[in-house]
Amino acid sequence: MKDRFLLDPEVTFLNHGSFGATPREVFERYQAWQLELEREPVDMIARRLPGLLADARAELAAFVGARPDDLTFVENATTGVNMAARALALRPDDEVLTTNLEYGACVFTWQQHCRLVQVPWQELFDHVTERTKAVFVSHITSATALVLPVEAIVREARSRGLTTVVDGAHAVAQLDLDLDALGADFYSGNCHKWLMAPKGAGFLHVRPEWQERVGGAIVSWGYEEPATFISRTSLQGTRDSAAYLTVPAAIEFFRAHDDRERCIALAREARRELCALLGTEPIAPDEMVLQMASVRLPEPDATLNRRLFDDYRVEIPVQGDLMRISIAAYNDRADVDRLLFALGELYA
Ligand SMILES: Cc1ncc(COP(=O)(O)O)c(C=O)c1O
Repeated sequence: MKDRFLLDPEVTFLNHGSFGATPREVFERYQAWQLELEREPVDMIARRLPGLLADARAELAAFVGARPDDLTFVENATTGVNMAARALALRPDDEVLTTNLEYGACVFTWQQHCRLVQVPWQELFDHVTERTKAVFVSHITSATALVLPVEAIVREARSRGLTTVVDGAHAVAQLDLDLDALGADFYSGNCHKWLMAPKGAGFLHVRPEWQERVGGAIVSWGYEEPATFISRTSLQGTRDSAAYLTVPAAIEFFRAHDDRERCIALAREARRELCALLGTEPIAPDEMVLQMASVRLPEPDATLNRRLFDDYRVEIPVQGDLMRISIAAYNDRADVDRLLFALGELYA
C-alpha cells in the first residue's frame, strides 16, 4: 500500500490526521482535472463545471447519507464551520455550548460571533442557560482524537430547541455517516483527511430549514436571483475546483481498499504499547478510539515532535502533553515499531 502513495519513503508518516495524504492514482485524477481546466478554461469553468460539480456532489452525498442539494462543497471543514456560525446570526452575548476538546481554529471562529462556553463533553447540557443558542461539537476531536457520542448530543440538543453544528473534519471515512439520520442542523466535513481526496475538498451539510440563511464564504455571482443555497456557496470567484471533482475518485479508491478494521486494531494496539512505554494511563476507553489515538506523555514536551523528525524521521504531532498517532491504509506494524524504538531511546 505504501507504494500507492506519494509520501516520502524516508519518513515514517504517522500524522495522516493533520492534512491527510492522497493515493497516487487519485492524485493523478486530480492533476488530469487541472490539465482539462488549463486546456480550455472557459469551456471548463463556464460550461462544464456546474454539471461536473453537481455529479461529484451527488456521489459525495450518497457516500455520507445525504440528499445532494443539502450539501455544498467548501475548501475545508474550517470554512464550513465559519459559514454555519455566520448563518446563526448570533449576538455577542448569545452563548454557544461546546466541549473543551475542540479544534483551536474553530474556537476562534465562534469567539468572533458569541460567548463560547467550553466544558467537558460529559456535562455539556448542565451548562444550558436561557442565552444558549447552539451546541457545537466535534464528531472526532482533534488533539485528543476521541469519537464523541454525537448522535446522542444532537438528539438532546434538538429536544431542547438548540441548534446543532457538528465539526466532522475527521469523521468522513473513519465512520460510516448517515447525515440525514443524524439530523444535525449543520455538519462540516473534510474529504482531504480520511477519504484521502486532494487537499481543499470539504463540504457543509445543512438541513433544509437553514439553507436560506447560509451564505457563501465570499459574496459573488451566486447571489444573483434566483439564488439558492448551492449557487451562493458554489460560485466563489475564479478557482480551481479539481479537488472537488476528484472526490468521486477518492470514494472509489476508499471503497476498493477499505482497511479500517486493521487500522483501528493497530491504532488501539499502538496506544496500549505507547502508554506502557511512557508509563501513562489511556485517556479514554478503546471504544472512543478509531484510526487516531492520543497518548499522554509523562510531561509536556515542546521539542519532541522536532526531535522525532530530525533524529528519526518519524512524523507525529505532539500538542502539550499529548502525542497523536494516526494509522491510515499505508501504515503498518513496522511504522509503530519505528516510533516505539525512537521513544525508547528518547525516554531511556
Ligand atoms: C476537529 C477538527 N476540526 C477542524 C479541523 C480543520 O480542518 P481544515 O484545516 O481542513 O479546515 C481539524 C484539523 O485537523 C480538526 O482536527
